[in-house]
Amino acid sequence: MSTATTTLGLKCRECGTEYKDAPQHVCGNDFAPLEVAYDYDRVKKLMTRDALAKRPFNMWRYGELLPESEPVSGFFTGGTPLVHAKNLGKQLGIARLYLKFDGVCGPSLSFKDRVVAVSIARAKRFGFTTVGCASTGNLANAVAAQAAQAGLKAVILIPKDLEPAKVANTQVYGATLIKIDGHYDDVNRLCAEIANDTKIGIVNVNLRPYYAEGSKSMGFEIAEQLGWRAPDNLVTCMAGGSLINKLSKAFNELDKIGLMLSEVKTKFFGAQAAGCNPITEAIKRGSDLIKPVKAPKTIARSIAIGNPADGYSASRLCLDSGGGGDDVTDPEIVDAMKLLARTEGLFTETAGGVTVGTFLKLVKAGKINKAETTVLCITGQGLKTLDPLLIPGILPDAPIIKPSLSEYRKLAI
Ligand SMILES: Cc1ncc(COP(=O)(O)O)c(C=O)c1O
Ligand SMILES: [Zn+2]
Repeated sequence: MSTATTTLGLKCRECGTEYKDAPQHVCGNDFAPLEVAYDYDRVKKLMTRDALAKRPFNMWRYGELLPESEPVSGFFTGGTPLVHAKNLGKQLGIARLYLKFDGVCGPSLSFKDRVVAVSIARAKRFGFTTVGCASTGNLANAVAAQAAQAGLKAVILIPKDLEPAKVANTQVYGATLIKIDGHYDDVNRLCAEIANDTKIGIVNVNLRPYYAEGSKSMGFEIAEQLGWRAPDNLVTCMAGGSLINKLSKAFNELDKIGLMLSEVKTKFFGAQAAGCNPITEAIKRGSDLIKPVKAPKTIARSIAIGNPADGYSASRLCLDSGGGGDDVTDPEIVDAMKLLARTEGLFTETAGGVTVGTFLKLVKAGKINKAETTVLCITGQGLKTLDPLLIPGILPDAPIIKPSLSEYRKLAI
């Protein structure tokens, strides 16, 4: 099996120690995270604009900058639309407002399919026959779907009270689902112990360096869709804080290999729910010191991580790039989901409501320059989190009438 011949094993983010490829995620010297290293000279030769023009529009077109370039699952993952949000933009007086809509990222309808596609390919290469994850919902769906595609067994651990759609969207693929009586951080801790003890490829634990790289594909697509330019402002919701870091890495890598047509100077804005805001709380203090949230409480279950693994680097990125961050309450999340649906015809899950709601707050506070290009990352699909919309009073009661024209006329529509 040939792979991205452009990778050079793993490297410690802090001390730079190099490691051979292995299911390992922390440095033996300092316990800092390991990252995939690339031979950028070689990438530059292979990943030219001409070469890219001949490739299908999905995440695999950027194979030289991913740890794996040959899918064993997620064959059509990525390639999602960058929608020009003309209606919402008009309401706010922002002409260049774009939505990266991963609510249609297949096969399981969130950006998590990107990270899973890469890590499942790597799991197979390492010889794992079972994969697993600690999940707040979307990762569970993606691992379950793609393990089925790759012919692997899946063992998935989630907090016990996730949305029913997230549960069904895991079990339907035949995955073994285990509900943990605790918060996500308890689930994650248990998964770390399982990864030490058994022969399971846990995508966000022992395969994490490979897994995390998959998020870059969203950034590569955004830049290419903007005509090889990075946006001036990018707003995305954060859970563990990995995605926002990888979006930044993606823009910098495209710059490094000479594909960008203008300087990369994106201001990154992180969004969280007020009921679980360890990263934005730090950003608002101007600090990178994360105070974990012990008991997250928000309808944005998919991003309710109280002790974010990449919180430090995410807050540093937002502060150092000249961006920032904020958080929104549950009613603000629901209002933002409805606003996005009504203005742009796009239905996002609660996490996307967090992104849009926070963006509105940032605009109101004058923190987004309205003359600039802004991209909002809408990372998941609304059909998966119907629960907060089904609460009486949130959406109108539809009238029930007899099938008669006179009854219809009485409604005076
Ligand atoms: C829909 C959605 N958006 C965003 C995120 C945040 O990702 P990260 O943990 O990389 O910050 C998640 C994580 O679970 C998610 O499910
Ligand atoms: Zn190290």
